[in-house]
Amino acid sequence: CGIIGYTGPLDSKKILIDGLSQLEYRGYDSAGIALFMENSHIRLVRHIGKVSNLKEECKKITTVSHCGLGHTRWATHGGVTTQNTHPHQAGRVTLVHNGIIENYHQLTLDFHLEGKLRSETDSEVAAWVLESIYQGDPVEAISKFTSYLKGSYSFCVMFEDHPGEIYAIRNVSPLVVAYTRSGSFVASDLTALIPYTRQYFVVPEDHIVKLTSYKVHLYNLKRQEEVPELMEVNWNMDAAMKNGFPHFMLKEIHEQPEALKNTILPRLVKGLPDFGDDGIPDTVLKQCRQVHIVACGTAMHAGMVARALMEPLLRIPVMVSIASEFRYEEPLIDDKTLVIIISQSGETIDTLAALRLAKAFGASTLSVVNVKGSTIARESDYVFYTHAGPEIAVASTKAYSVQLAALYMVCCRMALVRGNYSHEEAEDFIKKLLDAIPAMEAMIEKRDEVKALVTHLINKPDAFFIGRGLDYAFSLEGALKLKEISYIHAEACAAGELKHGTIALITDQVPVIAIATQEKVFSKTISNIREVKARGGFVILLTKERTKVEPGIADAQVSIPEIGDKFTVFPIAVVLQLIAYYASVGKDLDVDQPRNLAKSVTVE
Ligand code: G6P
Repeated sequence: CGIIGYTGPLDSKKILIDGLSQLEYRGYDSAGIALFMENSHIRLVRHIGKVSNLKEECKKITTVSHCGLGHTRWATHGGVTTQNTHPHQAGRVTLVHNGIIENYHQLTLDFHLEGKLRSETDSEVAAWVLESIYQGDPVEAISKFTSYLKGSYSFCVMFEDHPGEIYAIRNVSPLVVAYTRSGSFVASDLTALIPYTRQYFVVPEDHIVKLTSYKVHLYNLKRQEEVPELMEVNWNMDAAMKNGFPHFMLKEIHEQPEALKNTILPRLVKGLPDFGDDGIPDTVLKQCRQVHIVACGTAMHAGMVARALMEPLLRIPVMVSIASEFRYEEPLIDDKTLVIIISQSGETIDTLAALRLAKAFGASTLSVVNVKGSTIARESDYVFYTHAGPEIAVASTKAYSVQLAALYMVCCRMALVRGNYSHEEAEDFIKKLLDAIPAMEAMIEKRDEVKALVTHLINKPDAFFIGRGLDYAFSLEGALKLKEISYIHAEACAAGELKHGTIALITDQVPVIAIATQEKVFSKTISNIREVKARGGFVILLTKERTKVEPGIADAQVSIPEIGDKFTVFPIAVVLQLIAYYASVGKDLDVDQPRNLAKSVTVE
């Protein structure tokens, strides 16, 4: 969910609506605002669907308000209805919530709320609990309130008898705050604040913030005031605009070569990766006996590629876990394990929990994160920031390729310090990694060729992606991208595993995207493609330019430039992203905000 609050001299309605539009990628099931009106009355406007619906509805409000809260929802508790839309009101309390209150049912019983609730949300229960506790001192009430709650949350609250003031509390779900000459702002992430300030602070966990139009106060739960740690934004508003592209996703696909440069080049010293400035010590990379990578979604797929790269090279066990699984397992990790956490946002709750578990097991933790100052970045032992800039489209593209670049660099440095690579070999690795940049540019140039392929996909209900080794790891992301934004059911299958089940689904109605860029297993993949052809499947083959393929193997083909086998993921990722993009456009779907998804998932 996305949260914004504003108090100050400007028109709060406009700020809230603009902020919610920026935050919409965090959820777009419904949206609402609450405005403090002149007579201390708090007015709610809520609408299901996108922020544009809310904006229309808000045109009816003509009086100006200078303090308010806004929320865009990704539904967890309760369906998509106006009643379930935030803000929620309970007596003197009006609030917006991000997260989940796990003991909401018990709280309903303990506070006798059965007859009072108008929605099915845990958030409204929380609002009534706060109202029951409140005796006129907001900070006191909020600190007491937290002792009743189980779960993860951030709340922004307005109390009817404290006009012009906003109170916020964070336990896990992120919140950032800025105080400017144009007033005070609070939001679930920076994108909403960029138009107003370059300076902000991240609300520390278990802290309360009081915002007035001219001052911001930070308190711990004992109600002692603390000095916030101010940070500077490292990107500007342009980065969060479409700049002439029809969709953020296409813009972000185009930004990949630049993002790779920004991530790789500052970390090269004499042609070798060097993480001195990042504070990642060689001893950690050298002494670990195993690597365990943990992440969700696309970031997890970057981890799958890294595993296929690292294990044969480093000759130590490299595992990948889905964060939501890992956090409830008893992982075989210890103080000789390097746990690599990958997260674009740095806020995904399952990934954060996995990081905390890894630390509890004594592992060294290195996170690969895109958002500066995010919780995962702050809590890891070491951070490798990827410099992709803000990624707005829900389907991840440039964040994936910079995560890969980061992991490739870590792998190279590890190989060097562990003696798997000589200096020359490491230099050669980096040269080839840099070759990936023009290779990605070349594939972006070929976008029309990829677009033409999509005609074979968009009317089909299913598609399969196959490959072996690294190619299989790439195909996982190809399938995820396609299903996320085109709603075509897509599945990745290790090419050699097809015959053990999945091949039963291959008919002349089923397109198969076969990735064959790895010399070592090329002929084996071709044999698997033949098996698909024999069942009438329509094969779209992705290979390197100079690879010779017998006629009749592929029905359609796209070639990537000749680069080292280990590095083909970079141009292949562009092709897979463009396939998904044009399939979504071809079906006239909402590319940047596909149904049911959210960019940053701060609930379990
Ligand atoms: C969500 C997004 C995915 C993303 C995943 C992990 O599901 O829709 O695109 O890969 O979260 O996000 P993170 O910010 O941790 O990389």
